[in-house]
Amino acid sequence: MTTATATDLAINGGTPVFDTNVPFMAVGLTKKDIAAANEVLESGMLRAASKCAAFEEQYAAISDAKIGLTCANGTCALQLAYGALLEPGDEVITPAWTYIATVSMLVAAGANVVFCDCLEDSYQADPNDIEAKITPKTKAIAVTHLYGIPVDIDAIQAIADKHGLKVIYDSAQAHLAEYNGKGIGAYGDACTYSFYATKNLGTGEGGMVTVNDEELAKKIGLLRSHGETDKYLHESIGFNYRMNDITGAIGLSKLEDLPGQTNRRREVADLYASRIDAIEGVNRPVPTKGSNPAWHLYTCRLDLDKLSCTRDEFCAALMKEGVPSAVHYPKPLTKQPAFKDIAAKTGPMPVSEKLAASVFCIPIHQNLSDEQVNGVCDALAKVADAFRK
Ligand SMILES: Cc1ncc(COP(=O)(O)O)c(C=O)c1O
Repeated sequence: MTTATATDLAINGGTPVFDTNVPFMAVGLTKKDIAAANEVLESGMLRAASKCAAFEEQYAAISDAKIGLTCANGTCALQLAYGALLEPGDEVITPAWTYIATVSMLVAAGANVVFCDCLEDSYQADPNDIEAKITPKTKAIAVTHLYGIPVDIDAIQAIADKHGLKVIYDSAQAHLAEYNGKGIGAYGDACTYSFYATKNLGTGEGGMVTVNDEELAKKIGLLRSHGETDKYLHESIGFNYRMNDITGAIGLSKLEDLPGQTNRRREVADLYASRIDAIEGVNRPVPTKGSNPAWHLYTCRLDLDKLSCTRDEFCAALMKEGVPSAVHYPKPLTKQPAFKDIAAKTGPMPVSEKLAASVFCIPIHQNLSDEQVNGVCDALAKVADAFRK
């Protein structure tokens, strides 16, 4: 194959790799999901009932957690976990490279946020930087299995054990991810999940907290539903963060298909890895040792020193070849106006800042064929060739 030049690019009038754009994600309901929702609608039992209970049980089991608690969304799941595990004023170490909710809900819980940086190849929270940020006031670590790649759980649990810290894993993007051969629900004090429409298991809105401790589960259950221990008997202050049975039924139906879909995502990731390693200027994600990612997103990063373009110019050219991409995320949280004051106290985050200028996510989902995956790699190679210095 000859090396592509600028004039070969579709953005400059050349022939695109794909006639029709590759779908970026697979969302929507199957007939089976719709039938499951309809059954609940016809029953009239719309509140959280048997479907939510079964979803909790099955989701916890498949994640290697003891107990699952459904809730309204992944943000509520974080609020429930933080609310049950933290006290206002607790110092909590959390990554600058994650979705805002991981950190904004810490602020909402009254925690003192301390940012840590991430590792460049896996994009996950950097255990060395976590350890460097520990003070006598540190009470917890709240980290994300970002893009569905587990963090270095062994390192983080070792730090937590050494310093007596709680650990909350934001697993919103990591359904069915594994670490050292076990589901991620086996680790830490709590794992929180989102079932937002575009997640690997998407019910529209929805969330879950998984835990391995009965007392903690009770506390979360009370926070979820107005501290109610008996009809109109309120032992403590809580919220209404409950799921409903329509969502529970869709979750249960989708959970049946999730292992097969996750396996296909893993095959796609393997194929991407084997091809992208040969493309100079484009780096692929390198999963944490011992992890088996869920591959919610397949996030590559450009080696901008080797290319004569910005990430956005690269992605615009890729789009014209028929390959949509997305940037998760355009800023580290330390550059978000909402965290200006906190960021000023914790200093620069060089890796997160570098990633914000260089990452882009390419399509990954269960409906991609090998031919499409190879085509995406052809398009990446073509654009990289044309922009290589
Ligand atoms: C890492 C992470 N945490 C938390 C959330 C919040 O979940 P939800 O949108 O269901 O509130 C998301 C959702 O995008 C997420 O990706």
